[in-house]
Parts: sequence; C-alpha cells; structure tokens
Amino acid sequence: MKILVIGSGGREHSIIDKLNNKTNTIWAYPGNPGIHEVALKTSIERNSFEEISNFATQNNIDLVVVGPEQPLADGIVDFLESRDIKVFGPSKLASEIESSKSFAKQLMKQFNIPTADFQVFSKEEKKIALDLCKTICGKVVIKADGLAAGKGVAICETYKQAEQTIEDYFEGKFGDAGNKIVIEQFLEGEEASIFVITDGKDYIILPSAQDHKRVYDGDNGPNTGGMGAYAPAPIISDQLLKEIENSIIKPTLDGMRRLGRPFRGCLYVGLMITKEGLPKVIEYNCRFGDPETQAVLQLIEGNFDELLLSVANHSINNDAIKIIPNRFASCVVLASGGYPEKYQIGFEIIGMTSIDNDKMKIYQAGTKIENNKLLTNGGRVLCLVSAGASLQSSLQNIYQNINNIKFENMHYRTDIGSRAIKHLKQNG
Ligand code: AMP
Ligand code: GLY
Repeated sequence: MKILVIGSGGREHSIIDKLNNKTNTIWAYPGNPGIHEVALKTSIERNSFEEISNFATQNNIDLVVVGPEQPLADGIVDFLESRDIKVFGPSKLASEIESSKSFAKQLMKQFNIPTADFQVFSKEEKKIALDLCKTICGKVVIKADGLAAGKGVAICETYKQAEQTIEDYFEGKFGDAGNKIVIEQFLEGEEASIFVITDGKDYIILPSAQDHKRVYDGDNGPNTGGMGAYAPAPIISDQLLKEIENSIIKPTLDGMRRLGRPFRGCLYVGLMITKEGLPKVIEYNCRFGDPETQAVLQLIEGNFDELLLSVANHSINNDAIKIIPNRFASCVVLASGGYPEKYQIGFEIIGMTSIDNDKMKIYQAGTKIENNKLLTNGGRVLCLVSAGASLQSSLQNIYQNINNIKFENMHYRTDIGSRAIKHLKQNG
C-alpha cells in the first residue's frame, strides 16, 4: 500500500512505525528527522490541501492518514474525498466534536451522555457568565469553545480567577476560539482515555490509556500536551468498559449519525471516572491522542494498515487487528526545560544510538537536523516507549535507560505510571 501520513509529532512517528512493513511505502508530511528515517519525504512545498491532494494523486497514494486536529477541523478529509482520495479521519462536521466544545456538550446533552453540567455563553452574555461564576462556590472549569492548542481549559479556584479568565478569553487570548465559552462543573476523580476506531457505525475499542497532563511529578504545575502515558489503564475494568461502551461510545456514534455527521476515524474519549466510579466525558478529540498512541499501538498486532484503509472505505474490518493479551506499554516524554511555557530550542541531543532497540523505542517530536546534528526543536522533544509483560517492566526499561539521552535543560516526569502500579498492587 502507498500511504501518506500528515503530521510531525511522536504520535505520527508511532503510527508510521505501526504501518511500516515490507509491502508498504510510506511518505510523511511535514514529518521530522526521526519520522524520515522510516518514511519518505514528499515534494509538498506549501501546507495546502491542494498541494497535498496533488501529491497524493501523482503518487497513486492508496491511503492518507491525518494525525493532528487542525487539518481535520479545517476540512482536509472532505477536500481529499472530493478528489477521490481515500483518507482516514473524520469530516469537518464530525471533527466539530473536538473543534467546538459547545457542540460536543450539546451532543452529550441531547443524547443523555454523562458529562459535567455546563452552560454556554457568547461574548454578549459576559455579564450572565460572570453572575453564574459568583454563585458557584469551589472550583469552576472555563473552556474556550474552539481549538486552542490544548491550552483553552482553565480550572478556576476563585471568582477573581474566573473573572480574569472570562475577560481573557472574550478579549481574544485564543482568537476566535474564545468567542464562545463553556462554563462547567469541576469533576473529581481519575482520568482515562479511550480510542475508538470507527466507520461511524461499527467500531473497535483500543486498550484504555492514562495520560499525565501536568508538567511536574505528583500532577503539579501547568497542563501540557501530555508528559507520558501507559496502557491499559487498570482503573478501566472490563465491567467499567462495558458501561462506557453502552452509556458513552454507542450513544456518541449513534448521535453523530443522527445529526448527519457520521464520525469516521479515531474518536478519542477523554473520561473522568468519578469517586463513585461513574464514567463521565471530559472531552472528545477527533484524532489519536499524543502521547497515549505511542503506548497503545504497542498493544495491537495484525494489519493496522488494513484497519485504517477499511475505515477510509467507510466499512471497518474488525478482524484486521487483535489486541495482544497480558501486555502493557508505557511512554515518557522528554521535554525542553520551561515547557509548556517559554523554552529554548537548538540544543544538541546525544545518546540516541546508545538505546537498546529491543527494549525501548524512541519516537521523535520536536527535533530537527542542522549540520548533521540532531537538535531540539519544540517543547516535547522525544518520547521513549517500552512494552512488556508488566507495567513495571515497561517503565523500568525506560527509566533505567533515560539518562543515556541528554540535551540541555532536558526535563521529564519521574512518576509516570506510579498511580497505576499502586492500583495493580491494591487489586493483587
Ligand atoms: P481538555 O482540554 O478538555 O482535555 O481539558 C484539559 C484538562 O482539564 C483535562 O484533562 C482535565 O484534567 C481538566 N478538565 C477539563 N474539564 C474538567 C472538568 N469538568 N472537571 C475537572 N477537570 C477538568
Ligand atoms: N494527550 C492528550 C491529547 O492528545 O489531547
């Protein structure tokens, strides 16, 4: 198969790793140095749907796989499909499940999908929004409606913070993404992510995962894109997964179909498992998660390429992959010091070849090559991944090798998976 993968992060690197076999030829745009060790560079010069589509046609691409949310929200799938190119990912309308938080919340309300209580406000309704916050004691969650590079969610502990956040959002902190806001109830509990590969009707649920969004150990510091993950998440028992399937996954897919927006692609369901053990939706994403994907894909075998192609053909082949039983995977992100706030780039990365590839994989994210040297080029730089018969062994492989890799101001969390290990111990 000839495949073109759109994106340049650790997620896309791991997707390409999974698609890579003797018979596939893979191109990546824009890619990164690690990705281009396994995928060809394209001749695309400008990031436009027209150029991507021309490249796909000229090279007889059988399947385009879109990694990030922005091109999906901008309608890349509709554009490529209108040119008879097969593409894995949701349409623009279906992508609104991520790109409009107010749409996602209304969907959940309409189809009785459990989520935090909420209200939506436009700029003109600022005073009513502020009045609402005055009545809430305790934490309140304020979200920009549109895409804000993962930064549009504020958890406010005081009225003053809520007031400032509402002012900032309505005054354009996130551009048009903040023209509308969602104010919602703060949910307490443990988070987990579930990826559903679907043709809009039928689906496969991939192993659950848990991300670590805060930058520092112990879940301290600001939110990031994700500092590490592990899969499966022990908090998601088989029984809980059945409940999630019945109360969340099925009604979400049915609801999207009934609204004339069938969701084809990877639906990311971000969950809060409340103290009472109830699963509630925190957010949907219209794509694979990063870095959860880097761990989750280590737990499947079979023909991932056939699976994605079948979804692109609007008829999922449920037999294309199998979930490997009794296997665990984890990943730890190496980030630039300062991330998710200001950080420097351009530091040399050393030690990449000292890694035992049988034990650990390295997926690249924010990297570049200059003068034959691999340099840092982003907040999240590398993602170290390992899989094994236990979560402990996969984490050990990573943490025992992590200091072989070095770059200036390198920062990582030392406690990825520790909550899961506690869970596993408690449950024998
Ligand atoms: P989102 O971008 O919607 O995933 O939100 C980012 C993070 O904010 C989530 O991963 C949660 O940790 C937190 N969050 C979002 N909504 C809520 C909520 N209603 N209650 C508690 N935490 C939330
Ligand atoms: N890891 C969170 C996300 O991909 O949005």
